[in-house]
Amino acid sequence: MSENLSNLLKEDRRFEPPAELAENANVTAATYEEAAADRLGFWAKQAERLSWGEPFSEVLDWSNPPFAKWFVGGTLNVAYNCVDRHVKAGNGDRVAFHFVGEPGDTRDLTYAELKDEVSQAANALIELGVKTGDRVAIYMPMIPEAVIAMLACARLGAPHTVVFGGFSSDALASRVQDCQAKVIITSDGGYRRGAPSALKPAVDQAVTRCPDVEHVLVVRRTGQDLGEDGWTEGRDVWWHDVVGSASTEHTPEMFDAEHPLYVMYTSGTTGKPKGILHTSGGYLTQTAYTFWATFDHKPETDIFWCTADIGWVTGHSYIVYGPTANGATQVLYEGTPDTPHKGRWWEIIAEKGVTTFYTAPTAIRSCMKWGKEIPEKFDLSSLRLLGSVGESINPEAYVWYRENIGGGSAPIVDTWWQTETGGHMISPMPGVTASKPGSAMLGVPGIEVAVVDNDGNKVENGGGGLLVITEPWPAMLRTIWGDDQRYKDTYWSRFPDHGYYFAGDGAKLDDDGDIWLLGRVDDVMNVSGHRLSTTEIESALVSHPKVAEAAVVGAADETTGQAVCAFVILREEAGDGGADIVQELRNHVAKEIGPIAKPRQVMVVPELPKTRSGKIMRRLLRDVAEHREVGDVTTLADSSVMNLIQDGLQTDKAE
Ligand code: PRX
Repeated sequence: MSENLSNLLKEDRRFEPPAELAENANVTAATYEEAAADRLGFWAKQAERLSWGEPFSEVLDWSNPPFAKWFVGGTLNVAYNCVDRHVKAGNGDRVAFHFVGEPGDTRDLTYAELKDEVSQAANALIELGVKTGDRVAIYMPMIPEAVIAMLACARLGAPHTVVFGGFSSDALASRVQDCQAKVIITSDGGYRRGAPSALKPAVDQAVTRCPDVEHVLVVRRTGQDLGEDGWTEGRDVWWHDVVGSASTEHTPEMFDAEHPLYVMYTSGTTGKPKGILHTSGGYLTQTAYTFWATFDHKPETDIFWCTADIGWVTGHSYIVYGPTANGATQVLYEGTPDTPHKGRWWEIIAEKGVTTFYTAPTAIRSCMKWGKEIPEKFDLSSLRLLGSVGESINPEAYVWYRENIGGGSAPIVDTWWQTETGGHMISPMPGVTASKPGSAMLGVPGIEVAVVDNDGNKVENGGGGLLVITEPWPAMLRTIWGDDQRYKDTYWSRFPDHGYYFAGDGAKLDDDGDIWLLGRVDDVMNVSGHRLSTTEIESALVSHPKVAEAAVVGAADETTGQAVCAFVILREEAGDGGADIVQELRNHVAKEIGPIAKPRQVMVVPELPKTRSGKIMRRLLRDVAEHREVGDVTTLADSSVMNLIQDGLQTDKAE
């Protein structure tokens, strides 16, 4: 059986960069040439974006692969780079964050204020016994204190581990245990879907199993009553008491370029979550560079908004570290896109004059489902650039995003990267690349990626295979926290002779050599000996005017090995889709891709099972398609979704 993925979907649309953007673009065609001519020299130059204590003596030490050292001998303080130096350069009055709370409260935080609060928080953490190298867990809603807490940890060289506020106390406990955090920073709660949602009780529960935790530092956000058992004297302290009273003076210490910055847990296909370790100099260089390059950022005039939660790597790299290293002005929003109404995001963009907007395809498809009449009510003319991250963006969703949010002219940067890569790896550059809807296009300048077959040979244009990264990169993960062997086995064992990093994704090159991501290889289907990508069939379904979202899985089939089973959500205006909807969609896929991809079954469902970061859990849909009992649903954002799907399907059968 060939490992090569079939190359099926054809897409001919192209969008050239707008002339004005191209003329003033941060990255030009010459940048690619410069990076290709001397890759390490190029990264050394990008490192000059940062302020260093001791200069580095070597760009990359790769003498003990896969353990990399970037900017060897250099020292820096990450928080100084993200905050203090902008104040020193006279930009203290610039707004760092326009915070918008879900209930409508707002707060503008300048770089000067950020410097004071980060210093206060750092001094408070020292009071609580935190020393360089100690781990601190952060479990918070999307409020300014979350960013301040992260930067305060960075300032002290105390690696943070941020646990998404939507995770359970079990998930929090296992992460705190794994990295032996000494302090947890949290809040009484946050606002979610129009109501306060408590966080502190989950921390209290987790701490009973975390003997290393000495203190819990609590921000008052909602003012909820914590109850008699909700406060442990001596252990728990209020942020406004200890941070509020601390000095605003704190002298940042310089740390080695390879000093650990944070551990971010990400789930693997099996086993316990992996603590991905990122370090300081290389990570900050690549996130600072890619933020500037991919988003063509102009600090004087741009207002950036990334909708990711701070609990994911996107929030780390493109809310906290990359943007602040550039002195950017951002929007930070606490709530959900549909509270109190489905136009909330567009309202905020209009109010704050957002120029650059970065979100995920799953969110765009929800907005498509709600209808274009909603964004139409708002003035979105400030937007000049849009971004996408997290999964392939279906061509139809891309075009909808461009037309209805980007006014038909804003380019879209589809950025491929991972928790493990730390920063953007594959993406168009908005002033150079004529982008194709659905393609992440090409490696970022300074990054070497390839699509290879099972033996590690590069595939020809038009072929499909496995996506690999062929050279080390500055923001790469350094190891899995406490488990070097697992790091080697998970990422570096697939092509040992080539020394490639295998990312777990399938990809294809089109006839021009541009890259199309085809989903996780674990999700690939095999129909009559053809390896088919879930992404392509899903995109074909979403290109039908009645479909808002689709998920495709392979289910065992006596004749074809596996058969394509599709689950679709219809757009609101499509109603129930009509009596022939199933046949219509099967034929549509056959027409768009070919008969080989025609789904055996199409099931119209009200929701799809997703993780809290918005990724579809195809494993659960495979259980449904193969009539098995549905497996572990604990990582679902909404565990009732599977009941909804199964109930719906049973009613269909009864009719
Ligand atoms: O499968 C790819 C998909 O998301 C995976 C990484 O997930 P995570 O570590 O949670 O990080 C998400 C935010 C960077 C990848 O292996 N992925 C991410 N971005 C894209 C993508 N797939 C296709 N196109 C993208 N732009």
